[in-house]
Amino acid sequence: MIFTNDKSDILYKSEVAEIREKYSSVFSLFPDEFKNYIDKKFFVNEKTFYIYRETLYHTLDVSKIIGRFAKHLGYLENEVKNFMIAGFLHDIGKLTVDPNLLMPCKFDIYDHLSMEQHTIGSTEILKEIMPLLGDDVDQNLIRDFAMFHHILKKDDKRDCYLESKGKFIEWYVKDTYNLVKLPETVEMITIVDIFHAMMSNRGYNSKAFSKEETFDELSKTVPGDLLNSFKDMCRDDEDFYTTHEEITGNQVYNENANRVLSRISEDKNQINLN
Ligand SMILES: [Fe+2]
Ligand SMILES: [Fe+2]
Repeated sequence: MIFTNDKSDILYKSEVAEIREKYSSVFSLFPDEFKNYIDKKFFVNEKTFYIYRETLYHTLDVSKIIGRFAKHLGYLENEVKNFMIAGFLHDIGKLTVDPNLLMPCKFDIYDHLSMEQHTIGSTEILKEIMPLLGDDVDQNLIRDFAMFHHILKKDDKRDCYLESKGKFIEWYVKDTYNLVKLPETVEMITIVDIFHAMMSNRGYNSKAFSKEETFDELSKTVPGDLLNSFKDMCRDDEDFYTTHEEITGNQVYNENANRVLSRISEDKNQINLN
């Protein structure tokens, strides 16, 4: 393997082992067929692992947080399980985005536009993975999370409506929801997604925002009553604020990730994952 030396290989494998253990509550939700898919897409070698590393931590954390939020709101056990599955899959469309954009880099307007396409790209991936997820998953919830987690916008009267991002979304939503209001479940994933993205240090968002800044931004996007429930949950249990930091805060792992990613960046031929 071109990028691997022994030390790097040991570090990547031990980080993968830690992830499997730390997030076993998420991985255990999936049948073996889908676990194999995750292995193939994210863990197969250190190149793919480091390119998708931030996305992976983000989606695993989002899965845990939305599960906790659903429980807090009184959803039943099986519904909570489906929230966690759909939460893990909300950014699965990133598998269709140029891998360069997933590595630490500065975004320009074209990059932002390309990145925005991940919600649309998710339809392609979901078609491939639905049969691997088993019969009892909530396919509508998975589709809603993957396609609509970036399209809520708040109007003056506090209700959320759609921010149009292309004909396809307009058509789909008009057909499904009459272009009026998306379900509470979409509002929930929007809160959790923005919350985790802003509170984390990520490649294209190099500095984490404070809790106050994050809630302030959320109040401009999502309904107040649901956000208040989320804040209540945060007050009751502050542990998960540090989830992302704790894991990606491992300096040795981070240094190894940066070393491998900069080697990948230097050789553009290596970025193609196909
Ligand atoms: Fe996203
Ligand atoms: Fe996300």
